[in-house]
Amino acid sequence: MSTIEFLDLGKQPITNNFLTQQKPIEEFFYNLKIMFNEETKLVSLVDFVPPEKMFNETYAHRASMSLTMRQAYKELASKIKDRFNPKSILEIGSNDGVFLKNFLDINPIGVEPCKNLAEITNATNIKTYSNFWNISLGKKIYNDVGKFEFIYSANTISHIQNLDETFLAIDNILADRGVFVLEDPSLLEVLKNISYDQFYDEHAYVFSLTAINNLLKRTELEIFDLEKLTTHGGSNRVYIKKRSNPLNISKTVNLALAFEKDFGIGEFETYKKFAGCVEKSKTDLISIFERVKNKNSKIIGYGATYKSSTILNYCGLNNEFIEYFVDTTENKQGKFTPGTHIPIIKPDNFLRNDIDFVFLGAWNFKKEIFSKEKKYIDNGGKFITHIPFPQII
Ligand code: TMP
Repeated sequence: MSTIEFLDLGKQPITNNFLTQQKPIEEFFYNLKIMFNEETKLVSLVDFVPPEKMFNETYAHRASMSLTMRQAYKELASKIKDRFNPKSILEIGSNDGVFLKNFLDINPIGVEPCKNLAEITNATNIKTYSNFWNISLGKKIYNDVGKFEFIYSANTISHIQNLDETFLAIDNILADRGVFVLEDPSLLEVLKNISYDQFYDEHAYVFSLTAINNLLKRTELEIFDLEKLTTHGGSNRVYIKKRSNPLNISKTVNLALAFEKDFGIGEFETYKKFAGCVEKSKTDLISIFERVKNKNSKIIGYGATYKSSTILNYCGLNNEFIEYFVDTTENKQGKFTPGTHIPIIKPDNFLRNDIDFVFLGAWNFKKEIFSKEKKYIDNGGKFITHIPFPQII
């Protein structure tokens, strides 16, 4: 058998299913198990969750809510214009249009299955197809608009279960000299940081560069450049072209592939070791919470992220440990975290000093949060994080 399971993160809810009642009558759970494919080196969930359960009109995440992300997308847009100067652009997984709104002059096209988000972009002159990406949607867009000189997809391809169809549909609609950029969390960073919270229902895959490279060998596409990003705790921005396109392949690509090989990304042993580190991370995080809880401390959470859902449910950290979460996303506010039923509220301007400990759910925004909450930190306020190992900071 070429796939081997290496991690069991237990029963997990749909991360996007923020509850309107603290004690719901019914809640959907699935088994979150992770496996490794020895042939392609692809790491994926053992059981996929039906896409309609995750990506629908109640989808909560709004990419434009974070200043870090807004700035990052603006900078990326200007970089793309300078380097490629595309005359047409398609984004797969356009969320609330935070990236495409930088391309209004070339009539950008979005694809976004979550209807609530597609409505936002359609209302701002970004034509958005509210469907799942596949060959038939690609054909429809081709008939309506034609081929694209630039296709961008951030934090989306790793959500799409049928990768062969996904890449084929992209190849079909990409202009011969076009560029496709895929951006997703990096498996290498997950392994280095023991950030096992990158595994959740939506992430059908967590990609290494190695796995993407192997999957593309089955297509007419190939990688020609790579950037390492700090977004989502470490992501790869992978530049892809048609094999027939004579653009040079950057040395960075082979260097990164060699680095992953040396790290052991292609070896099952690496994943067995990682699973051991995840168990230790769980034990250590629970013991921190038990220790501070015994002192009757007030503990809250910061950022009810999808990632934190995996941690809270795997470690059994429910509303007995965390009084409430603060989160700036409006449609999470007034709701409860899936599975663990912790209330989520709108944050005050700054953290109050009667809070003793703050669990950093949005650890990937640590820099932004720490600079915003400088006063709380200067006054002795403490954060609990599990990255790269459980600790109080
Ligand atoms: P993400 O990691 O999936 O992008 O989600 C980040 C969540 O954290 C999002 O719901 C907004 C929230 N958040 C805050 O509540 N305060 C902050 O200062 C930041 C940066 C994020």
